[in-house]
Amino acid sequence: MSAAHTPRPIDALDVLEADHRAIEQLFDAFERAERNDFERKNTLAQRACELLTIHAIVEEEMLYPAAQEALGADQRIDVDEAYVEHFLVKTLIERFASLKAGDDGFDATFKVLKENATHHIEEEETTLFPEVRRTQMDLVALGARMAARKAALKERIAETATAH
Ligand SMILES: [Fe+2]
Repeated sequence: MSAAHTPRPIDALDVLEADHRAIEQLFDAFERAERNDFERKNTLAQRACELLTIHAIVEEEMLYPAAQEALGADQRIDVDEAYVEHFLVKTLIERFASLKAGDDGFDATFKVLKENATHHIEEEETTLFPEVRRTQMDLVALGARMAARKAALKERIAETATAH
């Protein structure tokens, strides 16, 4: 088998891109939900917010600081931009703490969340991630640490959800 056919081990960017696909699936499912199926819309919105929250935490804790160090000065702006985009997404997620399906603003807030998150995902996959891949960062080791951190965060969210 030639080197070109040797599968590359799963790395941190694969983990993050898999999150992106899962988030997009939730956005699509929300789009397909019946307008008045509030239970489903609540569930999908909650799930999307949880996934986006965990995803943003691991990126900010584990990817962005390392990328800031590894990237050249010209590319660091892309990390700065990603932080600002996360800030917007997190601000929108906070609104769902006091919004439920059927409320005025619920569908609109979800739509804006989707637009912002989709833009951010596209930017990462077309600009930041390819730049990070060209650095010397050990993305395979980072991917393993990231998967462990994600599992711990998921557990914490599940505990919080059942703690009352
Ligand atoms: Fe991100």
